[in-house]
Amino acid sequence: MRAAAILVAAGRGERLGGHTPKALVPLAGRTLIARAAEALLACPAVEAVQPVLPAGVALPDDAGSLGLLEPAPGGARRQDSVRAGLEALPAHYDLVAVHDAARPLVRPEAVARVLAAAEARGAALLAVRVADTLKRVRGGRVVETPPREELWAAQTPQAFHRELLREALAKAESAGRTGTDCAALVEALGAEVAVVEGDRDNRKITHPEDLAAAERELQ
Ligand code: CTP
Ligand code: MG
Repeated sequence: MRAAAILVAAGRGERLGGHTPKALVPLAGRTLIARAAEALLACPAVEAVQPVLPAGVALPDDAGSLGLLEPAPGGARRQDSVRAGLEALPAHYDLVAVHDAARPLVRPEAVARVLAAAEARGAALLAVRVADTLKRVRGGRVVETPPREELWAAQTPQAFHRELLREALAKAESAGRTGTDCAALVEALGAEVAVVEGDRDNRKITHPEDLAAAERELQ
């Protein structure tokens, strides 16, 4: 199969402060989108990267020389942006990794592992075991403590046979379903999603302290 990555970068970054689209925020001198794109392209299986940016926002200068595809304008929800990226992606790519620009520290080897698993099994995601005991809480009270051995924190990239991802997005649209990741939409089809153990340092930059921690790690 021929693999490409969709790099979703059309969020507003509200929890980071919201002054600049998050993907354009610099981390130790380079934008999140440039770092994420470079990590994806460093994986030999990835032939192309399709960026998705807020409408009217151009690629930053430091991503300009990476040879990315022409950016597609994103949508209101993450899944709308994924859909826009998938529609823009040339048809001959039949294996697709969807990655958040907000995860600039992903390792190329992890990208390769999740793509290989998705090629073999249709759908796969990177995830790490959770360290904390998690509680289900309603109205300020604990209603359940799910066994920790079964709990994993999902990351990106998440990779799929293109047709399966297309179907999952279309079905979510017709059912009025919103998912915080692509895998949830594929799960809703009843399809299996393989779990590939990822790296703890593939953290998502969400809050200002995440950016500070990533800066320290890079030094
Ligand atoms: N994303 C997107 N289109 C959207 C929403 C999110 O492309 N409509 C992308 C973001 O750019 C990010 C990834 O999805 O790379 C994960 O989203 P998140 O971390 O929530 O980023 P933001 O939505 O930008 O941040 P916030 O929720 O704080 O506004
Ligand atoms: Mg968001």
